[in-house]
Amino acid sequence: PFRGSVTLDGPSGTGKSTVARGVAARLGAAYLDTGAMYRAATVAVLDSGVDPADAEAVARTVAEAGIVVGTEAGTERVEVGGADVATRIRGAEVTRAVSAVSAVPAVRRQLVAQQRALVAGAEAVVVEGRDIGTVVLPDATLKVYLTAAPEVRAQRRAGQLGVTDAAEIAALAVDLRRRDEYDSSRADSPLRPAADAVVVDSSDLSQAQVVDRIVLLAETAV
Ligand code: C5P
Repeated sequence: PFRGSVTLDGPSGTGKSTVARGVAARLGAAYLDTGAMYRAATVAVLDSGVDPADAEAVARTVAEAGIVVGTEAGTERVEVGGADVATRIRGAEVTRAVSAVSAVPAVRRQLVAQQRALVAGAEAVVVEGRDIGTVVLPDATLKVYLTAAPEVRAQRRAGQLGVTDAAEIAALAVDLRRRDEYDSSRADSPLRPAADAVVVDSSDLSQAQVVDRIVLLAETAV
C-alpha cells in the first residue's frame, strides 16, 4: 500500500478536486481539501461583519471561528462554529470573497498549521490546494501541479454548475482568470508549481486518465 503524501496544486477549474478524491480512493489515502478551509474561513468573515480589508480583524475572526474540515466514513465535513457549511462554501458569495481572505498572512499561518496537524495523523494522504507543494508540505512524497488551458477550465466549471449560456460561460472565464491572477500574484504563498513538482496538463486528458497518471507516479515515487 501507498504510504506518504501527494500534493495536488493548481488553478481553479482543472478538475483538481475530482482528481484528488479519485487518487485518494485508489491509493487508500485520506483526502484533505484545503480550499474548503479557506472557504470556511470566508464564511466566518462574511458572517462576522468585520471589514474584509481589516487584516487583523479578519485573522482574529478566523482564529475564533471553529473551522472543521475533514472526511469521516467517506463523508466530507465542513463546519464553522458547529454549523454545517458544506453547501454554502461553494456559493457565489463565498467564491467572490475567498481570495481576499486567503491573501491575509495571519489567516494562512493558522490554516497551514491546522493542515500540517491533520496530515501528521495520516499514514497516506492526498492534499489539494494552491501552496501545498511549495509551503505546506515541502517534503511530500509526490508533488503534482495540475493545469489546463483557460477555455477548457471555463467549460469544465460551466459543466459543473450546469451553465450552458455562452455569455454566462464567458463570465465564468473572467471570474476564473480574476481569481487565478489574484492567487498567483499575492505576496504570501502565491500559486506556482514547486521546483520538484510534476506538471500535468489535463487539457486533452479525461479525469480518469489524469487519476491513472498520478496514481502511477505515486506508486513509483515511494
Ligand atoms: O480550491 P478552491 O477553489 O476551493 O479554493 C478557493 C480559494 O482558496 C482559492 O481561490 C485560493 O484563493 C484559496 N486557497 C489558497 N490556498 C490553498 C487553497 C485555496 O489560498 N491551499
